[in-house]
Amino acid sequence: MSEPTIGTALRVDPTGGALHGGTGQYQKLLSDLAGVYRDEDAFAAQLAEGDRVMYHVGEYRRSDAAGDVIVGISTLLPGRVGREFTMTRGHLHRLADRTEMYYCLSGHGVLLLDGPEGAQAVEMRPHELVYVPPRTVHRTVNVGDEPFVTLFCYPADAGQDYAVVERSHGMPWLVVEDGNGGWTLQENPDHVPGQ
Ligand code: NI
Repeated sequence: MSEPTIGTALRVDPTGGALHGGTGQYQKLLSDLAGVYRDEDAFAAQLAEGDRVMYHVGEYRRSDAAGDVIVGISTLLPGRVGREFTMTRGHLHRLADRTEMYYCLSGHGVLLLDGPEGAQAVEMRPHELVYVPPRTVHRTVNVGDEPFVTLFCYPADAGQDYAVVERSHGMPWLVVEDGNGGWTLQENPDHVPGQ
């Protein structure tokens, strides 16, 4: 944690995902993600071998005021739990009409969206930008062999609601390996819509 500065550029490591000069950072370990992956046996087996970082986030947050924005870098490390690729927990914004953008700096990922217009899976490669509409649950997934690094920006008063994803037993689609070195979507049989 460092003091916010004005007029000083933040420095981004576009492949490693570090953000230098931000106001905060956090990481999620495998052990933080119980219940996120469907294959509970695979999850338990990996955890028994040792905990590890699954993703980390660095951000610049000047305030939580309406009209301000939070900018940051999200880095998902490569790997899978069972057939599912590394992913974030996913959330709806607490103020659900708040939007967001993700810009891919490096790696290969998928942005899963689930909102009033239905579910979408948007593949992302470097220099591609995706807009997350209002009232849309969003989660990023790393389907590549390298860190999937995105720059994000969203309104500072948006907040995050993670429980909605838990109540729904995940998102409508799972992002799984296709048995051929690639990825594919699989319907999530546990998903409960409209939570
Ligand atoms: Ni968000």
